[in-house]
Amino acid sequence: MKNKDRVLIFDTTLRDGEQAPGASMNVAEKLEIAYVLEQLKVDIIEAGFPVISEGDFNSVKTVAKHIKGSTICGLARSIKKDIDAAHEALKQAKKKRVHVFLATSKIHMQHKLKKNPDEILKMAVDSVKYAKKKVDDIEFSPEDASRTDRDFLFRILEEVIKAGATTVNIPDTVGYSMPLEYSGLITDIRNNVPNINKAVISVHCHDDLGVAVANSLTAVHNGARQVECTVNGIGERAGNASMEEIVMALRTRPDIYGCTTRIKTEEICRASRLVSKYTGFAVAPNKAIVGHNAFRHEAGIHQDGILKERSTYEIMSPADVGFVGTGLVLGKHSGRHAFKDRLKILGIQLKKEELDRAFDRFKRVADKKKNVFDEDLIAIVEDEVKTFKKTWDLISLEAHSGTEREANVSVILKSKGKQYSKISSGDGPVNACYKAIDSVTKIKGELLDYAIQSVTRGKDALGEVTIKVKMKGKKVVAHGTSTDILEASAKAYINAVNKILT
Ligand code: KIV
Ligand code: ZN
Repeated sequence: MKNKDRVLIFDTTLRDGEQAPGASMNVAEKLEIAYVLEQLKVDIIEAGFPVISEGDFNSVKTVAKHIKGSTICGLARSIKKDIDAAHEALKQAKKKRVHVFLATSKIHMQHKLKKNPDEILKMAVDSVKYAKKKVDDIEFSPEDASRTDRDFLFRILEEVIKAGATTVNIPDTVGYSMPLEYSGLITDIRNNVPNINKAVISVHCHDDLGVAVANSLTAVHNGARQVECTVNGIGERAGNASMEEIVMALRTRPDIYGCTTRIKTEEICRASRLVSKYTGFAVAPNKAIVGHNAFRHEAGIHQDGILKERSTYEIMSPADVGFVGTGLVLGKHSGRHAFKDRLKILGIQLKKEELDRAFDRFKRVADKKKNVFDEDLIAIVEDEVKTFKKTWDLISLEAHSGTEREANVSVILKSKGKQYSKISSGDGPVNACYKAIDSVTKIKGELLDYAIQSVTRGKDALGEVTIKVKMKGKKVVAHGTSTDILEASAKAYINAVNKILT
């Protein structure tokens, strides 16, 4: 395949993805996701919008410092202070890109920016020239491009390319365009922008009408060679085009697209789990590629077909995306060696003391739960190996509750070698338990969201609790797992406290 048929994957999980309401992540979490994106071999990681906040600036700076295998990109409006901030945050990047954007549709120019087309054109060109003096790799996005007057769009693209833009991105900012229309737009750009072959055409589609992936793929068919997307399709409002769907569609249908990506697809499910964990957004079971049911066959006819010949009902192999099955693997008689080996197969590498903690926890789980599946092992590791300090630890809890009585929960927590206990009552055991933890830690939390999901099937399954909580003015997402759902709830809440204190 010729090099020009490579499609660049521009991942914006850490920027547009983080704009999803309630998805904010801290710097350590973003860096961990960036490492996984680097392992996935994403070409460009948009790490944030540096001018927008100190947190965003630090995230871009940290990612730029540590990630050397992908180009690191910072977003900037078409104004000098934004470009300066992006340039400063990207200083330590091995490969860097500044992404400058400016709205070009009539609606945005008139109502949002209150400028006429000539003023917009000048701002765009001036900002690209300014950025080009600092960084070689410049992307320009005419925001709301799909609703922009075509002739104006062609003109602005021609001028920004002359000014030094090396990538021109065509955002369907409000997810309004339909596949036929959007692919036609890409063709028109190729036919009407005289210097278009000096830049890469990129696409950036939102999913308001559910066609972000379809739009991106038709655009590739018509010549786009960069796709902007996010893991699990998270993003502003209904989200962005989903990275895993784009990558696997290109890989599964080379007969249509004739294009490859550099993505190491076996890392896809791991990236999906991590993004779901840190944003607190569960992946729908029927979500293409990464959903819990994406490779599960329920109907007898399908199971029979699969057993005879996989390709009867399977168009991709689960192993190609790192999909973890639920085959029985370990039990209470499994030793440390078997445990370590299984983690290795799952692509999990731990330091010695992390392995000790995880193994200890595995033994306790295996005592209560007969069959320990791969998904249980992943949950155990994620629960035990934290990116934050464990200031508080749960020692034990006891609950009394019933349909006709108020719940009472006593908790014993440990911090710096000392134990503290408290009993509280409340409207249900979770409420009582959280009140008791509040009074021990002296940190009051406001519970914003609470969800429980079983990790695998069966009555003895591990339950995973995900909470979103506001403490000390900050919102955090935290998780806890246990075969006892109240214990999982308590662990999630204590993890939230620890995160806040770290
Ligand atoms: O949706 C959009 O238009 C954007 C731009 C900043 C590219 O996110
Ligand atoms: Zn966007």
